[in-house]
Amino acid sequence: MDKKKKNSMDFGEFVDVFGNVIERCPLIAAKKKTQRPFSDLEDLKKHFFAFIDALPQAGQEGILRCHPDLAGSELRRGTLTAESQREQSAAGLTSLGADERLRLAELNAQYRARFGFPFVLAARFSDRAAVSRELARRLLCPSAQELRTALGEVKKIGSLRLADLLRADPAKL
Ligand code: GUN
Repeated sequence: MDKKKKNSMDFGEFVDVFGNVIERCPLIAAKKKTQRPFSDLEDLKKHFFAFIDALPQAGQEGILRCHPDLAGSELRRGTLTAESQREQSAAGLTSLGADERLRLAELNAQYRARFGFPFVLAARFSDRAAVSRELARRLLCPSAQELRTALGEVKKIGSLRLADLLRADPAKL
């Protein structure tokens, strides 16, 4: 997709294309459309992330709650977004054994009970062992720190999704 195309898309098309950069939060893309034109990938990222940073804590937690659990019930039911399905598959989470799935389900439940939102991790460059390890580690973090960490992961996921959409090289992000 070239720059001219990105800036000339109509509202509906822009939201269709960028609506899941932040998982299940098309409102962010809708708001960003009103702020076009964007000069490049970095500019677009800056706008998406400024929206998240400007939200009150309840809104930031709401963004986290739009994410499905990793290796959770949505994966089993086949109701993940295409992006989440790809990312979870890349981390090997779509082919877990029963024991691993149970262990992750327990950790996910503990994490939700402690923080009030699901565990979010940019899963694409991770693997099943690292996901479990990181989940167990972050469960012990202070709440304020964990909110910052989780939002950082949302931004990493968004960066990668934007890079995919713009056909940029994700390694340079
Ligand atoms: N990391 C990458 N995609 C996802 C997702 O859909 N949910 C969670 N929890 N983490 C992710």
